[in-house]
Amino acid sequence: MYKVIVTDAISETGLHALLSNSNFEVDQATGLAPADLIEKIKDYDALIVRSQTQVTREVIQAADHLKVIARAGVGVDNIDIDAATEKGVIVINAPAGNTIAATEHTMAMMLSLARNIPQAYGSLTAGRWDRKLYKGVELYQKTLGVVGMGRIGTEVAKRAKGFEMNILGYDPFLTEDRAKKMGIIKASLDEIAAQADFITVHTPLTAETRGLIDADYLAKTKKGVRLINCARGGIIDEQALVDAVNSGHVAGAAIDVFEHEPPENTGLTQNPSIIVTPHLGASTAEAQEKVAQSVSEEIVGIFETGSVQHA
Ligand code: NAD
Ligand code: MLT
Repeated sequence: MYKVIVTDAISETGLHALLSNSNFEVDQATGLAPADLIEKIKDYDALIVRSQTQVTREVIQAADHLKVIARAGVGVDNIDIDAATEKGVIVINAPAGNTIAATEHTMAMMLSLARNIPQAYGSLTAGRWDRKLYKGVELYQKTLGVVGMGRIGTEVAKRAKGFEMNILGYDPFLTEDRAKKMGIIKASLDEIAAQADFITVHTPLTAETRGLIDADYLAKTKKGVRLINCARGGIIDEQALVDAVNSGHVAGAAIDVFEHEPPENTGLTQNPSIIVTPHLGASTAEAQEKVAQSVSEEIVGIFETGSVQHA
């Protein structure tokens, strides 16, 4: 019998492969304090998380039986990969299950930002009728810079083309040929700064991408640019963004992910020009079922046949 612990909210339907297999016992324990996870993890063979649980070196070192850490989602930046590798623990994720959800959330954020929808909703529900205050801008024929042309960046670019935006894509792996086939322009970060009306980031959070959009970069952007981050907190430097919005250089931002979650920077979360959502990019019924199903089936495969697909 293999013991699996699920420490973030995961779709129960998606866990079917594990729940219906008599070789596995599944315990769900969300909201554990770090010390409680360190204590509990000793008994388990597999751990399933989303982005909330911090799988630190201490957790991994305390895990005497652990063979698999599964991230029901894309980013594995909440897992100490070095510590897992040193202990021989396999880390898997579900790279494609929430691509559409995150893409559609990015489009929703871009449209909400362009048309001040959250602010106007707040105003009207507070009893005001502020039509002038919430005049927006169109996406049509605006330039969108997409930083990170992987799964989500690519899907965002496709949908933005439907709005007849001009798309500039930046990614170390984006070839001229692929850009041409997609009908977008391969650009450098500086070209995006100089030309884009909207900039959306879709890279992982790494040492290289932390602060990729910082005060120096923002100073190079067009006055009136709008930024979107539905990837990872920290890719856009939060304080630099707040300062650039407050100075009037950046017209607005739409942020789903934060350097600390829940966020600590009230300059960001209580700014009338910055719209925020609490890390909802992957939060659709469909995506949550797909990512849970993907990791569940892979865990069964690892323990029963030794096959690993998304390490
Ligand atoms: P992906 O791996 O398919 O794509 C990431 C792309 O970023 C790759 O093409 C890579 O080449 C590129 N990249 C890496 N470093 C770069 C750099 N320095 N400059 C430019 N490009 C760089 O990943 P994805 O599935 O598209 O996910 C993108 C991001 O969205 C990740 O950070 C992921 O964790 C996040 N995400 C967030 C949510 C959410 O709930 N908000 C949901 C899903 C994914
Ligand atoms: C991801 O990287 O997959 C997202 O952040 C979604 C999640 O938190 O589940």
